[in-house]
Amino acid sequence: MQVQHESHASDTPTTFRVLVTGANSGLGFAICCRLIDEFLHTRPSTQSLHLLYTARDARKVAETSQALHAHLSQTLHKLSRKHRPSNTRVAGEGHRVILEGLLVDLAELHTVQSLATELVGRGEGLDAVIWNAGIAGWKGVDWLKGMRGVLTDLKYATTYPEFMIPDVGLVAAPQTLPHRSSKKNRVDEQNIPSQQPQLGQVFLANVFGHYLLTHFLAPLFTPSSRIVWISSTGALPPYFDVEDLQGLRARAAYESSKRVTDLLALTSELPSTAPYVRGLLGREGRGRDSAALPKMYVTHPGVIATSIAGLGWFMGFWMLVAIYAARWLSSPWHPVDPYKGAISAMFCALSPPEQLADLEAREGKGKWGSSTGVYGEERVARTEVPGWGYCGVPGVVPEGSVTTGMWRGRVEGSREGREGFEVEGARVWREMEELRREWEERLGLEV
Ligand SMILES: NC(=O)c1ccc[n+]([C@@H]2O[C@H](COP(=O)([O-])OP(=O)(O)OC[C@H]3O[C@@H](n4cnc5c(N)ncnc54)[C@H](OP(=O)(O)O)[C@@H]3O)[C@@H](O)[C@H]2O)c1
Repeated sequence: MQVQHESHASDTPTTFRVLVTGANSGLGFAICCRLIDEFLHTRPSTQSLHLLYTARDARKVAETSQALHAHLSQTLHKLSRKHRPSNTRVAGEGHRVILEGLLVDLAELHTVQSLATELVGRGEGLDAVIWNAGIAGWKGVDWLKGMRGVLTDLKYATTYPEFMIPDVGLVAAPQTLPHRSSKKNRVDEQNIPSQQPQLGQVFLANVFGHYLLTHFLAPLFTPSSRIVWISSTGALPPYFDVEDLQGLRARAAYESSKRVTDLLALTSELPSTAPYVRGLLGREGRGRDSAALPKMYVTHPGVIATSIAGLGWFMGFWMLVAIYAARWLSSPWHPVDPYKGAISAMFCALSPPEQLADLEAREGKGKWGSSTGVYGEERVARTEVPGWGYCGVPGVVPEGSVTTGMWRGRVEGSREGREGFEVEGARVWREMEELRREWEERLGLEV
């Protein structure tokens, strides 16, 4: 599936505002580039894109700004060549894109609060947010296992890797208290409240930091805003235990955090999670109608070459060769190039409602993956999620779903499996809400 041109174009100037986290490298940077390109290609010239992107420090923000401006210039150059000789319109296209870098470290909750305070203070609505930033929490590679997997079972071993060595029980640094404005009591930023419970580092960076940010930014969302999460093909049930939401005991906290992401997004429109979803979005007590809430979407980029695995240049090169080879052997989940991997997140942020919200309403909620053919031609495709299936209906496979390259632990969809997924999803929602309230109170966080 590719993004369609807007069918309801109007002459009224409008700004589409989107926020992307972790934009200084890998997938996040590619998503920003792809948003710019797709926006300029598919939206009418009366519409502008305000692209807000985050990194963890000012140097990374500045470098990202430079790289994104260079990308924008390239895109404009290509557009002007395409439209030559009538390229007068294209000459002014650059003004349709505003790029703005912001700071946040999702593992430091007071910076999450600061970012939200800044944005909510401006009062400008957000059309989409893309929760991309993330860490793997791996401490190394089991090279022997990796070599064996790559040599004997290449496609499978690089889609559902079991050769990364997770850092089991990784916890985040203690949270510091937020910096208070001069009107309130001033608190030393280094002041760490005593008796602070641990937070799983991977869970915090990948899920909980974004979850809190969603809550704080809720005043800026409208019913048509989109909250786009990034998951993974590796978000599989054996890695997640509902008794261990934060993955502190998980044998792979990364995969556990991605399963939490799937559970949250896919069950977010069900009646059983509605009270928690309304709590997260600050809409408690506003009736039972969840149609009026912004929607959550879950995507994954397939397997792409980024620095998340921390392999170093030498092994990184051989891994690149291996994942290209997997694609040439017809794996559906090896886009390799982050720009190709970005298609699913970009699609969920930019596609017109009839291509996404209406489609999900008709055919069921899906996990939207970036799939490629042997020659790298990318498309957006539904991915099977254990328990949920392709669309929340056991045994139903909507057109365009990927049905190859499956996880070997998969079982046929069943009513029991689907019910189990929903029960687990509602429990995850309940515990996430409890955790949010606890941490807001503990750190005095408010926006
Ligand atoms: N690579 C793949 O094959 C693959 C597959 C499935 C899903 N994904 C997902 O894609 C997303 C992006 O990963 P990537 O592969 O592009 O890796 P990456 O190049 O390492 O990018 C990760 C980004 O997240 C940022 N980040 C990490 N921890 C953060 C924190 N505490 N606060 C704010 N930002 C933080 C990083 O910033 P710094 O540069 O400052 O560390 C970086 O910008 C992740 O959610 C990942 O799980 C990747």
